[in-house]
Amino acid sequence: MDKELARGAEAVIIQKKDSVEKRRLAKSYRIKEIDDELRIRRTRSEAKMLGKMQGVAPRVISVSEDAIQMELIDGNVIKHILDDKIMIAEKIGYETGRMHDLNIVHGDLTTSNMLLDKKNNVRFIDFGLSFVSDKVEDKAVDLHLFREAVESKHFRHESEIWNAFQKGYAPKNRDQILKRLELVEMRGRNKQKY
Ligand SMILES: Nc1ncnc2c1ncn2[C@@H]1O[C@H](COP(=O)(O)OP(=O)(O)O)[C@@H](O)[C@H]1O
Ligand SMILES: [Mg+2]
Repeated sequence: MDKELARGAEAVIIQKKDSVEKRRLAKSYRIKEIDDELRIRRTRSEAKMLGKMQGVAPRVISVSEDAIQMELIDGNVIKHILDDKIMIAEKIGYETGRMHDLNIVHGDLTTSNMLLDKKNNVRFIDFGLSFVSDKVEDKAVDLHLFREAVESKHFRHESEIWNAFQKGYAPKNRDQILKRLELVEMRGRNKQKY
C-alpha cells in the first residue's frame, strides 16, 4: 500500500513497502519543455549524488526521468528529535566532514534533511541542490546553512548543538573551512544591516 510521506514545493515522497519514491511534479506555470528538462536534470543529479554518498544516503534502487526509487530509511527526522538528543549533532558533524572530504556540498543542510535510523546512524537525504566542489568557500556556506537552520529550529540549544557539531566535524582543511565560515557569517550580518 502506498503512503504519501511528504509533499514539498518540488516533489512528492511516496512510501511503498520497503522503498520510497521521490517524484518531481510538473509545474503548470513553467513552460513544458523547460519544466521537463529541469525535472530530468534535478532528478538525475540527485540520483548521482545519492550514489556518491553511499552508506550515508539512502541506497538508490532505480531512477526514471522524474522519479528516484530509494531505500526507505526507517527512523526519525532529526528535526523532531535533536532538541532531546543533542549529542546527535556530533554525528551530524562527523558525517558532514566525510561528505566534504568527498567534495560534496549538500546545499540544503537542514535537520529536515537528516534522518536517524534504527541503528542510530545519521543519514542524509534531499540532494537536489547538491554539487561537487573542493572549494573551502562552498563548504563554509554549507556549514552556514546548517547553523542558520539550527538557529531557527533549535534555538533553545543552539550553542550546545553547534559545539557538538564542531567536535565531530573533522574533514581535511577543517580549520580553513571554519575560519572561512566566520567571514561568510560576517557577510550575512552586514547584508542584514544595510
Ligand atoms: N529515503 C527516505 N526514507 C524515509 N523518509 C524519507 C526518505 N526520503 C524522504 N523522506 C521523507 O520525506 C521528506 C521529504 O523528502 P526530501 O527529499 O527532503 O524532499 P523535499 O525536496 O521535498 O524536501 C523527508 O523530510 C522525510 O520525512
Ligand atoms: Mg527536504
